[in-house]
Amino acid sequence: MNEKERILYLREQLHEHNYKYYVLNQPDISDQEFDFLMHELQDLEAKHPELYDANSPTQRVGSDLNQNFTQVAHKYPMLSLANTYNEQDVADWYESVSRGLAGEPFEVCCEMKYDGLSISLTYVDGKLVSGVTRGDGVHGDDVTANVKTIRCIPLVLKEGTGYPKEFEIRGEILMPWKVFEQLNAEREAAEEPLFANPRNAASGTLKSQNSKLVASRRLDAYLYYLLGDNLPAEGHYENLQAAAHWGFKISQGMKKVGSLEEIYQFINYWDTERKNLPVATDGIVLKVNSLRQQRALGYTAKSPRWAIAYKFKAERACTRLNEVTYQVGRTGAVTPVANMDPVQLAGTIVKRATLNNEDFIRSFDLHIGDYVYVEKGGEIIPKIVGVAVEKRQQDAVPVEFIKTCPECGTPLVRYEGEAAHYCPNDTGCPPQIKGRIEHFIARRAMNIDSLGPETVDEYYRRGLIHNIADLYKIQVQDINGTGNRERSAQKIVNGIEASKKVPFERVVFALGIRFVGETSARLLARRFKTMDALQAATMQQLMDIDGVGEVIAKSVITYFANPVNQEIVARLRSYGLQMQLSEEQIEGTSDRLSGKSIVISGVFAKHSRDEYKALIEKNGGKNVGSISGKTSFILAGDNMGPSKLQKAEKLGVPLVDEATFLEMIGETNAESESATTPTAEPDGQLSLF
Ligand code: IVH
Repeated sequence: MNEKERILYLREQLHEHNYKYYVLNQPDISDQEFDFLMHELQDLEAKHPELYDANSPTQRVGSDLNQNFTQVAHKYPMLSLANTYNEQDVADWYESVSRGLAGEPFEVCCEMKYDGLSISLTYVDGKLVSGVTRGDGVHGDDVTANVKTIRCIPLVLKEGTGYPKEFEIRGEILMPWKVFEQLNAEREAAEEPLFANPRNAASGTLKSQNSKLVASRRLDAYLYYLLGDNLPAEGHYENLQAAAHWGFKISQGMKKVGSLEEIYQFINYWDTERKNLPVATDGIVLKVNSLRQQRALGYTAKSPRWAIAYKFKAERACTRLNEVTYQVGRTGAVTPVANMDPVQLAGTIVKRATLNNEDFIRSFDLHIGDYVYVEKGGEIIPKIVGVAVEKRQQDAVPVEFIKTCPECGTPLVRYEGEAAHYCPNDTGCPPQIKGRIEHFIARRAMNIDSLGPETVDEYYRRGLIHNIADLYKIQVQDINGTGNRERSAQKIVNGIEASKKVPFERVVFALGIRFVGETSARLLARRFKTMDALQAATMQQLMDIDGVGEVIAKSVITYFANPVNQEIVARLRSYGLQMQLSEEQIEGTSDRLSGKSIVISGVFAKHSRDEYKALIEKNGGKNVGSISGKTSFILAGDNMGPSKLQKAEKLGVPLVDEATFLEMIGETNAESESATTPTAEPDGQLSLF
């Protein structure tokens, strides 16, 4: 066997061992032997870069390189399921299916409802080519690099098992209970914020930009839905059995049944048995098995008629409330937390529960020492749902909401109409300072992705940074002190340096002015054009902007009136951040579409839809997704769908064609303007409408 053959042989062997270990749970070699083969493959691949294969088992280790997720459109939208909570609802659904099929007999596939995050995997020629999150159901994040690190997801399907040339398979990514508990124990020891439940932990992990970290988190995946043109069978159950042969881990305990009675039996069995499963489940999914019948039943706007979820009832426990502590969040909101005697509940030990706010505490008339009922619903964060008042001691003391911030001692405030208490010391209260720095570095703000919350926390504790401006003082040698290698220190500093090019409107957003989100930051930047002008803006000028109300205007004024913030902004300026719109941006901006809500529809010749969206915003208008009575006009290209035309007509919304629109914004000689590729994207079912 030459080295090339050996590489191919090792890849095949390692795929098979992976499958036996992670899918079947039946390894037939030791971990050491596995590692040995893996190292051999890694060495050989390093020697033969020309034999690189993105789906080699060596690619599962992930990489430290930051990746940016791109948004991709789902081929088939990812819908959700309608929920039911009792036997009657299930019977109603069963009845409606029967009616929909005009009394024709049907089978139902019963399976677990996994409580993780859904993923859509695409395979072409037996190789994993992409993994996309659900996103908004129409578009999701391409997280292929992260998905590849999940060992039970096959990178290459088993040869000769008859898989279609191209197909999509959907399922759920989960963090097993054991991994979750261990991860949280580690985070607790490191004084890092805990994940509320395995779903959040899995979601946070999968969206991490560091696939090496993802690889270390040992995520699991169950697949439950096959889509494509040439599926092997006419039944959902049979298709998934086939998928199991190709190498996928499918839903445990799937069962095909032919009566309502059997559905109830399945539900009752798994209501208790699920507690022994390694991952979180929150219900049962019932699917009409025949694909032909599924098609006949079809979909409502949100979910299939051929499937339904039955949600398990929340589990409940009773335990003693020992103390109420308070957490200060990144926005200064103060959340009371119940600290209780530890109690076993739905797979984990619970000792804390959120108490939301003062009104919540009052509504239960909570006393220290009370026995409280704790529940975990679909949301795994435990909540208090009642008090065993009969068990209350006579001398029990009522819980009194604190008056001052537990972090910095500042008297708390409660704004009119809000349930939460806030610490108003936004420039001096540690969690708020850290929160603001985290916001500042976020992807949509300054995009300093070489830093993360953990690093921010560490630098803050070491006194290296006290505010966002301090980031720009950091030097490689400051960071080296923590034991980080020089290369990563350099990377951090480079990342900070690179952020100086981030456009002005994102700088405005990054400041973290309360209530100023991305959209209002853009409006402010476009209206005032420079930081100086924005700082000098009056309440009236601010409120004159369409889309900026009193709350935002007040908040902007308060922010810039604070000398601490003034100094921070002055320092940011001195470090070279963008303090005004670029020439290009200024040139293109106008108020021509101010106050207009515009829907884009159809196919255009001169600009893409995204470019039209940007043009609308640049000219002070608002691009909205769906047509309503408030829509000012429709920017209508070719091939607008008939239903949209009808709706526009019915609501009396005018259509404006491409040429007229360009005239409206003063772009009369559009051809010679910006270098754009004409697009011919069809106004398909996933369009902006
Ligand atoms: S089937 C069109 N099967 O529940 C139907 N979904 O609210 C596609 N889920 O977004 C979904 N276990 O993330 C299906 N065995 C299962 C499931 C399942 C969990 C999730 C999935 C979906 C949500 C529906």
